[in-house]
Amino acid sequence: MNLKGGVGKTTTASNMAYELARLGYKTLAVDLDPQGHLTDGYGIKNFTGPGSLEVLRHGEQAGAVYRGVRENLFLVGANFSTGGATLQALSLAPGPQALGKWLALNADRFDFTVMDCPPTLDNCSASALLAAHELIIPVTGDYLSLQGVAAFSRVIRAAEKLRSNGLKRWLLMTRFQPQRKLAQEVKNKISDNFPGELLHTEIRENVALAESPGFGLSIFEYASASTGARDYGAMVREFLDRSENARINDDINEGEFAGVAAHAC
Ligand SMILES: Nc1ncnc2c1ncn2[C@@H]1O[C@H](COP(=O)(O)OP(=O)(O)OP(=O)(O)O)[C@@H](O)[C@H]1O
Ligand SMILES: [Mg+2]
Repeated sequence: MNLKGGVGKTTTASNMAYELARLGYKTLAVDLDPQGHLTDGYGIKNFTGPGSLEVLRHGEQAGAVYRGVRENLFLVGANFSTGGATLQALSLAPGPQALGKWLALNADRFDFTVMDCPPTLDNCSASALLAAHELIIPVTGDYLSLQGVAAFSRVIRAAEKLRSNGLKRWLLMTRFQPQRKLAQEVKNKISDNFPGELLHTEIRENVALAESPGFGLSIFEYASASTGARDYGAMVREFLDRSENARINDDINEGEFAGVAAHAC
């Protein structure tokens, strides 16, 4: 999640969920953005639900509104129609707790849930802020990103007050251009201001990452030798290594029970 648009939220959610599934984790990807880019990016065009709208409206009563999109990878698609119908449906939604309740009900079916959020603070993103265990904030290497993260941090603190447990935060440098001095400066500032929260892996600017959703493919399917595939592969390995929820999850798997750790991008 990041309230700034176009920073790589969907690219991160899509490729992270795909890679977790490829590694053998049962993974649920949830498209919470009315733009539906995560749904499109897995090659599902003109999706007409049921999907995340039912989850936000009906919570536990929404049923099994996910579908298999790859081996081990399941998707709750975005079926928000445009305009008034969606607004009306969301205004009837019971509140931001519905998503968390539905996820909890389905927790034993998945090892990880990855949620893609819109660049706005609305019922969709508020629901994710309350339901997620960890938050991944993609940040690009420009100064406006720094301001955006500072403003967003205040939103996270407010959300934490409404939660019974803390919300682990990770920052991820995306669309990174290592040769640019400004990008390095922004990275250093983030690292100084959010000690221990910046993922060391940078996702470099890579044209294959921009091309792959148009073919309905993850970067690993579209260009497995690209820097984009290498970077997201490394990012997921680092995440699995550093996230306490991921480690708990591994222990649970070893005990032949599947748990859920929800991650919002
Ligand atoms: N590392 C990258 N290299 C090249 N292009 C990228 C990279 N990451 C994302 N893009 C491209 O940049 C654009 C924005 O990325 P993306 O859709 O993931 O951002 P977003 O934060 O989800 O945007 P929104 O706020 O609209 O939901 C897309 O065209 C995407 O393909
Ligand atoms: Mg997006």
